[in-house]
Amino acid sequence: MKIRVFDNPADAGIYAASLTERVVETTPTPVLGLATGSTTPPLYDALVSMEQYGLDLSEAVTINLDEYIGLSANHEQSYHHFMNHHLFSRLRKAPKEIHIPDGTAADLNEECHRYDSIIRKNPIDLQILGIGKNGHIGFNEPDDLLVLNTHVVNLSSDTIQANSRFFDSVDEVPRQALTMGVQAILQAKKIVLMAFGTEKSDIIAKVVHSPVRTELPATILQLHRDVTFVLDRDSASKLDMNSLLLSRS
Ligand code: F6R
Repeated sequence: MKIRVFDNPADAGIYAASLTERVVETTPTPVLGLATGSTTPPLYDALVSMEQYGLDLSEAVTINLDEYIGLSANHEQSYHHFMNHHLFSRLRKAPKEIHIPDGTAADLNEECHRYDSIIRKNPIDLQILGIGKNGHIGFNEPDDLLVLNTHVVNLSSDTIQANSRFFDSVDEVPRQALTMGVQAILQAKKIVLMAFGTEKSDIIAKVVHSPVRTELPATILQLHRDVTFVLDRDSASKLDMNSLLLSRS
């Protein structure tokens, strides 16, 4: 696991965008696994800027991690809307395929199967992740077990509370979501997890320093051979840098 710490989210976003660019430039049809939430906009801002200097995402396939159940694509808090607003509508040339789970599908199990077949056909080259304060990745919440495939998840009360900041009231936050499972995440060739702010400092320290356990879903990233944590000083503030340096030597 590599850890890169930046002065601020904007610089971290530029770094994550440059990792993305490297994948895009070295892969004929790059498949990018994308995330939403308040952490990713600095990455998307940087990708939009880099397009002016030659970055071309038009051959890319994008596959988003998750979507709320019950929110239509044009609902302001849907992840479809988020992605259009922060990335897709700002690009001169959109990715050639954009995939986001359909949270309004009549048959949600069928939607999960459909999504898994998209992932099977398009193995992910680079997976971008945020992290919940409870350690979730995608919406794989802390539990006794982790689900491998795309599935319907009941959001934890922590997540509902955390995400209520985007809604008028906590009652409006959907209680369920569709999320990619941990298998698709772990099968990505490269993973970049971004986290900013002191509110993420406890979970980042736990995920880096604790043993792998399903109550802290992001700890499974320790099993992956190419993971980079892209942090700002605040989210990195509780890491034990000495132990990290020792474990590297
Ligand atoms: C979003 C997602 C979530 C978020 C996480 C952090 O697509 O999969 O795991 O990355 O909840 O959210 P923020 O960035 O809002 O703190």
